[in-house]
Formats: sequence, C-alpha cells, structure tokens
Amino acid sequence: MERGRGGCEVAEPAESEELEHAFRAEARERVLVLDADPAIRSSIAYFLNHRGTPAVAAASAEAALEQLAEGSFFLLITETLPPGLSGLELLSRVRARHPEVDVIFTAGSLEIAFALRAVREGALDFLRKPFELDELAHSIRRARERRGLLLRVVAAEKLAERTRLTEEHVRDAIVALAAMIDAKSRFTRSHSERVASYSARLASAMGLAPEVVQRVRFGGRIHDIGKIGTPDAILEKPGPLTPEEWVEMRRHPAIGAECLRGMGILQPYLPMVELHHENWDGSGYPLGLRGEETPLEARIVKVADYYDAITSRRPYREPLALGKAIDYLRAERGRLLDPDLTELFIEIGPERVLRDRARRRRPEFEIARERGGA
Ligand SMILES: [Fe+2]
Ligand SMILES: [Fe+2]
Repeated sequence: MERGRGGCEVAEPAESEELEHAFRAEARERVLVLDADPAIRSSIAYFLNHRGTPAVAAASAEAALEQLAEGSFFLLITETLPPGLSGLELLSRVRARHPEVDVIFTAGSLEIAFALRAVREGALDFLRKPFELDELAHSIRRARERRGLLLRVVAAEKLAERTRLTEEHVRDAIVALAAMIDAKSRFTRSHSERVASYSARLASAMGLAPEVVQRVRFGGRIHDIGKIGTPDAILEKPGPLTPEEWVEMRRHPAIGAECLRGMGILQPYLPMVELHHENWDGSGYPLGLRGEETPLEARIVKVADYYDAITSRRPYREPLALGKAIDYLRAERGRLLDPDLTELFIEIGPERVLRDRARRRRPEFEIARERGGA
C-alpha cells in the first residue's frame, strides 16, 4: 500500500496474482489414462511422465471416476469401451461432475455415429490405435491450450466480480464519509444529500444521459469530501469566519481532489469535487476558471451547492425564503453561476425537488392515504 499526500490509500491491482495462481494450479494437474490393457495404459502413462506431463493409469471406468474425484486432472484418455461403462456414459459423467476435465477417446476402429455423439457431448479428440506418440502429444497440447483458455476466463471473471464488489465498497465508504462530514456541523446536516438531489434533477432536465445524471448525483453527494481536512473548529464555528479561517476553508476542494486522485474508480467525480467553487466570471477557486472552462458537471453542482447554501441556516444568518433565494440566484447569473443552468434550475423549481425527495422517503401507506386510498 502506498499512502497518497492527501492521506488516502492506493491499492495495487491484483490481476497478475490471480492469473499466476491459476497457472500454478494448472502446472500441478495430471492426465488419467484408462485402458483395459495394462501394457497400453502403462506405456502411455510412462511416455507422458517421461515428457514432463504427470500421468497415472486406471484399469476400469469406476476406478477412473474415483481418481478424478480426488481432483487435479485436466485430461482423461480413455478407450471407447472401457471396462465397467460405455464410453458415452463415462463421457457424460465426466462432463457433469468435472467440466474442467477434457476427454480424448482411443479406439481400434471408430464408428461415425459414436464419434458424432461424443463430439456433441464434449469429447475433445479421437486417436486411432495404434497411434503415434507424437500424435498423442499434439492432442494433449490442444487440451492444455483449451484448459489455459478456460483458466484465463475463470480468473478474469473472478477478477471482474471482485472489482465490482470493490467499486461498490469504495462508493459506499465514501458516501458514508460524506454523510459524517455533513453531520459534524449542525449547519451542514444533509447538505450533500440535497445537493445530490438538486444536481441530478438539473442534469436530467438538461436531457443528459441517465448514466451522466447518476454520475452528477454521486458527484453532488461527495462534492465536499475535502472538508475531512478542514479543522472542526472552523466547520463548527458559531460565527463568521476570519480571513485566515476562510483561507483554510477554501482548501477543501483541493484536499478532496487529492484524496480522489489515489482512487482510480472515483476519477469521473474529480471535477465536481475539485471545481465546484469555480465562478462563471473567473473569480472562484482553486483554479480561477472562467465560463465553460469549468466542466459542465462541476457547474451543475455549483448551482445546486449555492442554492442549498443560501437556503440553509448559518451561524451568522437565517436561511433565505424561497422567493428571496430565487432573486439571489438571478442576481448571480453570469457572475458566480452559469446563466443558462441557473435559469433552468429556477424553472424546475428547487422546492419541488425537495418535496419529491421527501415523498419518496415517506411510507407507501401515508402517500396512499393522502391520495384518498386506504
Ligand atoms: Fe464546497
Ligand atoms: Fe457544499
């Protein structure tokens, strides 16, 4: 683990470890040779062992199934009529119980009907007795290649599943952190949740794709994550901040960005965390970007954040009433806020966003009763 400058930990990817493990497991695997003739089965097993492929022999179908159940085989080489079971019956049991084990049939003469059925049911290859040992080696190479491919797919699937879970865990953890930061001060309680709702509604009203709306919602939820580095005495101060305290407070977008930079899956949210205090006229921070130099998603969160700030109680002022807040929004078009986005936000009616949000959280029976239902 490496520790980033912002105090956030960076995980190393584990893909190579996953594949390494799969291939180490493959290297341990063996071939099982089933033939009624002891001379044939032992000579094949001897040849394979000599060529570096571990192999053991079995004299009957029953013995073969018992050995396969012990594991670590990738291939069964069997005659089409082994003692104990028909070749097709043995094939079907092996496919059902050990799908990772390939089957190669050996036969003095091969019936076409048998071969077709065996292929349909998953046999890998057929060798006509007496066969050249090089021919056998070639068949085994094919089985190994197929096995290698299968292992890669399984490893990739496992990795994808683990990555998905990790992503969810990271997102859950960072949302929990954002809620904790909001809760630290009685003046910002649920601020990020409301900013997320306003931002998503504005993005949706712009006709942006659903995945962008979701991204903006999550960005709104974590936009103030950098306040983790702001001293509690400043966040909870029951009065206006001094100029020095404002300098400290204004570091939070840069601190948030520093934390997110160490986490690959959170990169899409970086602009909303780092740039939600940029102003349309270039007077904002941390970069002093102007107009559309600030990415759209950050400008959306900015409008939502500004509206929530002026309609929330602060230690040194009361929250603005709706009409007054709309006047403030209008006055800041083209100064602090993107003029078009602000106009659209006013059209949506931010009070409706909160009302809808509150309705979604109420129990179903209350909503039904209000509608005249049960
Ligand atoms: Fe902020
Ligand atoms: Fe904020």
